[in-house]
Amino acid sequence: MRIAIVTGASSGIGREFALVISEKYKYDRIWLIARREDRLYETAGLMTTPAEIIPADLSDEESLHELNSKLIEEKPVIGLLVNAAGFGKFGSVESQNTEDIADMIDVNIKALTLITRMCLPFIAPNGAIINMASASAFLPLPFMNVYSATKSYVLDFTRALADEIKNSGVSVTAVCPYWVNTEFIPVAKDSPQGDSINNFLFITYPFNVVKKALEDNENDFLYSYPNVVPLAIKILSLVLPESMQIGIWNKIRHIRNLRYNQQFPEQLPLL
Ligand SMILES: NC(=O)c1ccc[n+]([C@@H]2O[C@H](COP(=O)([O-])OP(=O)(O)OC[C@H]3O[C@@H](n4cnc5c(N)ncnc54)[C@H](OP(=O)(O)O)[C@@H]3O)[C@@H](O)[C@H]2O)c1
Repeated sequence: MRIAIVTGASSGIGREFALVISEKYKYDRIWLIARREDRLYETAGLMTTPAEIIPADLSDEESLHELNSKLIEEKPVIGLLVNAAGFGKFGSVESQNTEDIADMIDVNIKALTLITRMCLPFIAPNGAIINMASASAFLPLPFMNVYSATKSYVLDFTRALADEIKNSGVSVTAVCPYWVNTEFIPVAKDSPQGDSINNFLFITYPFNVVKKALEDNENDFLYSYPNVVPLAIKILSLVLPESMQIGIWNKIRHIRNLRYNQQFPEQLPLL
């Protein structure tokens, strides 16, 4: 059985990946993974490819063991693995509770790494791995500190993995968007200092991210930038002194984007 696996398929970018993969490619089945089972069924209901719903809390080691056992038992041929599950919390490290911090590290780093490792023996020779990194990976971001550091890890991990398996024919891509209009922002704002970031200028939509990511992966590109904004941030992170990068971030993160506050999340016009 040739399958695709999408984590974070209950919402936002992961959900969009599941829908576009179902539309664009011919898999026998797409495994959909996230905590909210009802939302996974909703995603599955919109797909033309049959789905397998796998409700799992990826911050929980037991869920990772269960997934590993399932892979070993079923031995699927994995054409595409998309690691999209992840979340962030706004605010200083001191303001955040230790549970949120641990979960961010567990889901964004540990689960992504272990799921990739578990899937590697089953990835088809012409298969693909797509990891959701972020433009926040390019520089240290105060008040989004742990999150941006987890995404730096994802970027480095994906980069080194691509080299390790470069002769396997597997195409590996790290996706690096700036803001995307999903539940990520309300989830991140739901923290004691959630208001420390209010500027979501240049926000884009899941479809743009996913379409570009799949194209870039097909072209064997290691990095996918959905538009010019993350690319510009990447270039600035290479040429500006780090203190200047952080200074600019600290200035712009306060500037309230009124359109975001008036109409979120579904109807925000493209900027
Ligand atoms: N939106 C942005 O501005 C943005 C920008 C750059 C990168 N990203 C990255 O893109 C990826 C997708 O985010 P999104 O924007 O689509 O946000 P989203 O709409 O909030 O989706 C996040 C997904 O991750 C899943 N998830 C979170 N915690 C989980 C856990 N403990 N166990 C299993 N699944 C979990 C959620 O499912 P359940 O809640 O049902 O478990 C959901 O399906 C993330 O890695 C994020 O860091 C987002």
